[in-house]
Amino acid sequence: MEQETNPTRDVFLPFRADLRGQSPYGAPQLDVPVRLNVNENPYSPSSDLCEAISASVTAAIKDLNRYPDRDFSKLRCDLSDYLAEESGVRIAPDLVWAANGSNEIMMHILQAFAGPQRVVASFLPSYSMYPEYVRDSFSTWVAGTRKPDFSLDFDEIRRVLDVHHPSVVFLASPNNPTGTALSEAELREILELTRESGPLMTADVPARRAATRDNAVTRDTDVCVTDDDGVPARRTATIVVVDEAYAEFRRAGVPSALELLERYEHLIVTRTMSKAFGAAGLRLGYMVAAKSIIEQIMLVRLPYHLSAITQAAASAALANRSALMEQVAQIRADRDSLAHSLQEMGFEIALSDANFVLFGKIANRHQTWQDLLNEGVLIREVGPDGWLRVSVGTPAENERFLSALHKAHVDHM
Ligand SMILES: Cc1ncc(COP(=O)(O)O)c(C=O)c1O
Repeated sequence: MEQETNPTRDVFLPFRADLRGQSPYGAPQLDVPVRLNVNENPYSPSSDLCEAISASVTAAIKDLNRYPDRDFSKLRCDLSDYLAEESGVRIAPDLVWAANGSNEIMMHILQAFAGPQRVVASFLPSYSMYPEYVRDSFSTWVAGTRKPDFSLDFDEIRRVLDVHHPSVVFLASPNNPTGTALSEAELREILELTRESGPLMTADVPARRAATRDNAVTRDTDVCVTDDDGVPARRTATIVVVDEAYAEFRRAGVPSALELLERYEHLIVTRTMSKAFGAAGLRLGYMVAAKSIIEQIMLVRLPYHLSAITQAAASAALANRSALMEQVAQIRADRDSLAHSLQEMGFEIALSDANFVLFGKIANRHQTWQDLLNEGVLIREVGPDGWLRVSVGTPAENERFLSALHKAHVDHM
């Protein structure tokens, strides 16, 4: 039979103009012996943990013809128990929300609280995915700056809040790529400053109408927005997202924002099993927030977004956490000794509460990065000019990194 000719494929596709020329996010995934570039836990799961996860997943598979529990009640209880043990803060399970990685959690937050006409802000250097979440939720991105030592600059925070009135602010603590954490005093100050710094809204006029008149990008204190009865609009709070992806690695005495949840309804704390839990491949992130916030998130999530397999595997990993927590203590100690070795080699380091160290200042950072790669060691060329970031590996990997760095060509700034 003669083959049918294809209809012409030369059509004009409706690509989004704002995506033109952009490239997909992603650190290089290169097959080299020492991979210290994406802040993973360097240890594979133990055989006991593998068995526990297999048993839990096998049980879940028996019901695979059914949709999963869309509110993942058991997993929320397990996460709540874990948080109580890890941070000493007991959170009711219905104030915990989970998704496929904290990336998806961030999207849920922006789908619920950002969007067209709304501003989302952060203070750089910080996690490079934030602007992408903002783009993907059709919101406006505003990047404030930090001080040269990477700590927050409160004059700059006040300026961004005052001029842009963001509906959401992202603050990673410990921050990526710097590793620096926020103090309790800083967290409290931000949460006080953001009580009424969001967009203008009226309580009973449809949000659309108030939002279109509230030009959040220019200063709008003179804009008079009222509802149909003449009641003026008021400023909402700015949602403060404290991204604690690396919280388990913080040094003793460094607080978790979880401790402040009871006092601040506009605070969201996000966490992930990708780092300390050694389960980046699982894709399980979660957040804790007030009931009013969780209820909004539930409006925007896709139905059954968390598969039965993910729920089963995550619960099993949480139930077998004691060995993992010992590993975290080991990684913390290795981080401190890695930072110390880098300082002894003459590098400046940012004080890290995470499982990575940002070090510099190197005039030829790309060449240094490439020299390390040539020795089979992959780290990350990220953050401000002159700095490189290395994740904490096993002691053998850290040694290999340090000896490759000794050989690399480094022009100190
Ligand atoms: C600060 C920060 N937040 C969130 C994430 C995303 O983590 P997940 O794997 O849970 O999506 C990362 C990953 O590197 C991160 O560094």
